[in-house]
This record gives sequence, structure tokens and C-alpha cells, in this order.
Amino acid sequence: MTVEEKVGQLSLFAPVAAGTIANPETRQPSAEEQRADLRAGRITGFFNGQGLAGKREAQRIAVTESRLGIPLLFAADVIHGFRTTFPVPLAEAASWDPDLAERTARAAAVEAAADGFRWTFAPMVDIARDARWGRGVEGAGEDVFLGRRFAAARVRGFQGADLSRPDAMAATVKHFAAYGAAEGGLDYNTVDLSERTLREVYLPPFEAGLDAGALAVMTSFNEIAGVPSNANPWLLGQVLRGEWKFPGVVVSDYTADEELIAHGVAADAREATRLSFLAGTDISMQSGLYRDHLPALVASGEVPLARLDDAVRRVLRLKQRLGLFDDPMRGLDAPERTDWPEHRALAREAAARSIVLLKNDGALLPLPKVGRRIALVGPFTGGPADLNGPWTLFPGPRPPVGLAEGLRAAMARPSDLLVVPGTDIAPAVAAARRADVVLLALGETEAQSGEARSRTGIGLPPAQQALAEAVAATGKPVVVLLRTGRALALQGAVRDAQAVAVTWFLGSETGHAVADVLFGDTGPTGRLPVSFPRESGQVPYHYAHKPTGRPVVPSRPEAFYTTRYLDSPHTPLYPFGHGLGYGDVVYEDVSVSPARLPWNGVLTVTARITNRGARDTVETVQLYVHDRVASVTRPVRELKAFRRVPLAAGASATITFRLDRSDLRFIGPEGQWVAEPGAFDIWIAPSAGAGQQAGFMLEGPTLHHVGER
Ligand code: IFM
Repeated sequence: MTVEEKVGQLSLFAPVAAGTIANPETRQPSAEEQRADLRAGRITGFFNGQGLAGKREAQRIAVTESRLGIPLLFAADVIHGFRTTFPVPLAEAASWDPDLAERTARAAAVEAAADGFRWTFAPMVDIARDARWGRGVEGAGEDVFLGRRFAAARVRGFQGADLSRPDAMAATVKHFAAYGAAEGGLDYNTVDLSERTLREVYLPPFEAGLDAGALAVMTSFNEIAGVPSNANPWLLGQVLRGEWKFPGVVVSDYTADEELIAHGVAADAREATRLSFLAGTDISMQSGLYRDHLPALVASGEVPLARLDDAVRRVLRLKQRLGLFDDPMRGLDAPERTDWPEHRALAREAAARSIVLLKNDGALLPLPKVGRRIALVGPFTGGPADLNGPWTLFPGPRPPVGLAEGLRAAMARPSDLLVVPGTDIAPAVAAARRADVVLLALGETEAQSGEARSRTGIGLPPAQQALAEAVAATGKPVVVLLRTGRALALQGAVRDAQAVAVTWFLGSETGHAVADVLFGDTGPTGRLPVSFPRESGQVPYHYAHKPTGRPVVPSRPEAFYTTRYLDSPHTPLYPFGHGLGYGDVVYEDVSVSPARLPWNGVLTVTARITNRGARDTVETVQLYVHDRVASVTRPVRELKAFRRVPLAAGASATITFRLDRSDLRFIGPEGQWVAEPGAFDIWIAPSAGAGQQAGFMLEGPTLHHVGER
């Protein structure tokens, strides 16, 4: 291979006229220029926005008209479905069921691979603790343990059991790293955090995704403590390649190499290329920087040929593992398929299981299907807009099912549903007065969540709030249905409604799934993957915060000089992990054995849960720990295990968890993973804000911290 051909393998572009240009400042080549580049072997593949015929033709040129005939690799942002749209990833994380996410990722990969896409820029595994940040919708929420489980499951789902199968897609864990920790929740903004927080909170989901076999990593746009990720040799070299021994491909985010100039660490494109490539970014996305500057940098010796060969080898190995050298036309030669009816049932199941019931006063839900007149009012009563959420680039021919359509399909008398779309108060109030119960469909539009969709406040718009107040004033029972890609701060009549359910962006089967839950065909089983604060001013908020030197004392919340606000309790309105079912589950008899855990021992934690309600349910039992005294401060609680337990009406179950000292590790004073002997609190709980408490001692060889691998 010539140096130019090698550099070609490191240059990824959106196809001309793809219509998905995330940065309009970027120069787009003409179609003819792009064909010439293909013939010259200057392009490794394309991402997003290209139909099957376009991919077929590009592959034909690459394989038959370029000197080496190296096949192209087609990539796409297959984030939560392809033709079939599954719930946005944050919603699916609310299922607390990684197996479900694995199944939807698998289905998405099957659909996308049949369209010739063999590489997805997913899963996004960024921990997101600031609800102002719009991209929290693409991840698994605020928690490290949940984040790890979903990262691994999604990687397994996209890649499948055998990479060489035509329906396998290479997965990309992104955005490396700490993209979700942007100051002010402002997308692309500066990140400045300690190495301890980086290693304990932001990096573990990446490691989990890589342990599950992810073949690629995407850099993040942000800097960390002065070093943009694309040019961070510590992150990409020492941690990723050195400590984690990652053998796969590192791809830059969209023009992130070129953005080193705007960051102010590179004077020009040539320097940006050198910094990015030497730091460890193998593939340049969309900027064309590597194509334009790497050959000269190699010729001058500023970039060693060995580094170039190393990056090219990784890319060729990726193509080889996907079977592209065996059959470059794989997935490109079948007739185009846009409809996958066999995935609708999974979409409906995933959507129903993503719904989180926050509140259900007086057991207002489930609603009977007959004998009640229901008013459905608010800006989100219908469809097809605002149902899928961001990153639905390749929707199938069937529009997603809106709320009115889904509810009518489930009701014995569809005429009992009175629908008033919008926020006009008079018709909504009139419908409410005629109805027995009001469903208030409120929240965010699709355009308010996702990339570059940061908000300064996370409340509802005044028109929606006014509508809610007016409807509540009718005295009719109100169920609020919240469409959202982030935690929202609920106020007034929205907060105080008899029932509140978070319905996120649920995708193709939204209306059917919401009806399933409202009418009780499927009990609500979702749990919050993010805390819902009381006020916008509380964010960033997450449950696993530190105690501080002046924690609020629950028995004396009025004590003045404590970590509290003047104008609001410091606690969330709904904690991480919260979610109601239609059962009534009580927790009892938590026991821990042995009370003194030997250094190499196993701790057994059991609890009894009973469904005293009249309906079957599924309870998500959560285990949290707190290290009472350590050499560095520890979070007030950390999730360490959970289990979904089906419980019939009246049934009990004894739940057993096992932990060992590896579950109690943290980054110690010397920057290494350690476990320390001493006292721990433990909770078996329905959420991070409740639970039955017990304790144990970890016995260790010294009183001080002990280095762990
Ligand atoms: O994969 C995405 C990334 O998450 C944000 N910037 C654009 C990329 C490619 O579309």
C-alpha cells in the first residue's frame, strides 16, 4: 500500500447529499470528487444517509475500480432502532432490563445490516448527571452500575454472537470520555474533573462495553482539564491502549480533529492532524484532515510510519472480522427492505416496559376499558411528530402510533375518547368537564432533546403549565403523561396530579404501549435511570453524591448551616430507581451474613418482599452500599446490584444477592483501585431514596487501604 492508500483507510466521510451534515461549516466535496477519491482508494467508508443503491455503487467502485480493491465499510448512527424505532436509550434504561436492550439492539442491527450498514456509532455510554445536557437521552442515565450493564448489553446486541455473520454490526462505545460532564450542561463545553471521578464514574461503562467486545471507540468533542479528547495521549494511549489493551479502532467524532484549532491547541489543520493522530485517533471523520495532511507528516518524519501502519492494520482487521473481504456485497445485494413487521411486538414490549409510573394516588390507574369517558389533552395527543425522539435517521414506511390512535384501539368504545390537541385552555377544559378522567400529554418536543439541545431550565413551558392548572381546576382526576428525553422539574398541577407517568420518546409503538400500561394489560415496571429534581436550580443532581462535612440531618432539616437550599429541599422529587407498579410491595427481614466479611469472603444479603396488592407486578429490587469511613470521601449510596422479580398478587419471595470486596472498590489516595476494611451500610431498596438498612464489616489485612487490581 502507498502512504496515500493507507491514509485512505483512515478517512471516513458522509456521502455527498447525505443531508445529515452535523457541522454546516464543513466543506462537502462534489459527487464527482468523491467518486475519484473512491477510485484512488482515498476513502475507507461512508456514514449515514445513503440508500442501498448508493452504497452498492460506491462499493462496486471501491472493489472493482480501485487499485487494491479494499471494500468500504458503511457506518451509521443506529442508536435506537433502524426502520423500527425502539424507545430512546434513556427510556430503555428505565426498563432496568439489559437483556431487553440487547434484544432491541440485535433487532436494530438486523435491520441496518440488511441495508448494508455494518458499523454503528452506538452505544453512547456517557454517564449523564446534568439534565440540562440534551444528549442524556442517548445514554443509560446517571448511574455507573446501570451504565455498565446497559453498555455491555447493547454491545452484545449490536455485534451478535458471530461478527462474520451478515447481520452483525461493529459497535462503538462513545464518546470517550466524560462528554456528559460538560460544564453547565452545555453541549461540547469544557469538562474539568478529577482523575478519581473520571475513573470511578465516567470510564467504567466504556470498559464494560469493551469487555463485551466492542470493536470501536469514538472520541468526545470535549476537553478534559485542558486536553481535548482527540489529542489526549493519556486517555487514548495510556488508559485505552495501555491499561485496557484495546486492540480496535478509535474514530474521531465528526470533525473533532479539526476542532483542535478552535479549542486553541493546534495552530492549523496540519498541527491538528499530527496531534490527533499521534494521540491515538485512528480514523478521521468528515474533516478530511488525515487525507490532506498525514502523507506530508509521514514524509517529514513527524509521524512515524509504524504509527500509520498500526492504525491501518486495525481498520483492515475490522473489515476482515466483519467478513467484508470475503463478501464485500454482503447486505448490499438483496432487495431493499424498509418494513419489519416482525419487530413491532418487540417495539411494543420495549416501549411499555420503559414507562415509569411516578405517582398513582388512590390507585387511579389502571383505568377500566369500558364505562369511562377519557379526555386526552395537551400538545402530544397525536402523531406522528415527537414520538420517535432524536436519531431516527432511517424510519420505516409506517408512521409511529400516536397516543389517541393507541388508546382508541384498546378502548371498548373509541368514541369515549375526547381528544383536544394543543394548549388552548377553553376546549381542553370543556373536554375535561365532559370526561371522567383527563390524560394530560405534556413535556418536550423531539427537537428539545439530543445533540446541541441543551436547556438552561428543565421545567415545562408556561403554556403547558397553564393548561395543567386549568384542567386541574375542573376537579377531574388527572393523569400526566410526560414525553421527555431528560429529567424534568415538575411544578404545581403537573407535580400534584393524581397520577404521573414518564413516557419518554417510545418510538414506533408509542400509543399501543401507553394504552397497554394505562389499561393494565401490562403493569408498569419501569424505574428511573435519572433522579427527577424538584427545581431546575438543583441540577446537576445525582443520588450518589458525597455526604459533605455538613450533611442535612433528616431529624432536623431546619438546621441552618448545612448542605441545603434556602428555597427548596435538597432532595429530589423522585429519586433514581423509583417507579411504581400496580402491586403493593413491602420489604422486610433484610439480613447480611457474615456480619464480619473476611477479606476473601462472600457476603450474602437477603430480603423478603411481599406483594400485598391485588395485582401481579414485577419488582426491581436494588442493593446499595455506603462505605462509612474510608481514606477518601465516598458517595452516600452506590448501586451494586439489582434484580427484577415477578411477584403475583399476594406472593412473597426471598431475594439473595452476593457481594465480595471487588464490589466495594474505589480509587484510593494513590490513584489505584482499592478496597478498605471497615464498616459499610447496605440497603435493599425499591429506590435510592428508600429501603431497609443493614450493615457489615469488611475485615482486612491492615487498617489502611489495600491495593487492588
Ligand atoms: O455519531 C455521531 C456523534 O455521536 C455526534 N457527532 C456526529 C456523529 C456521526 O453522526
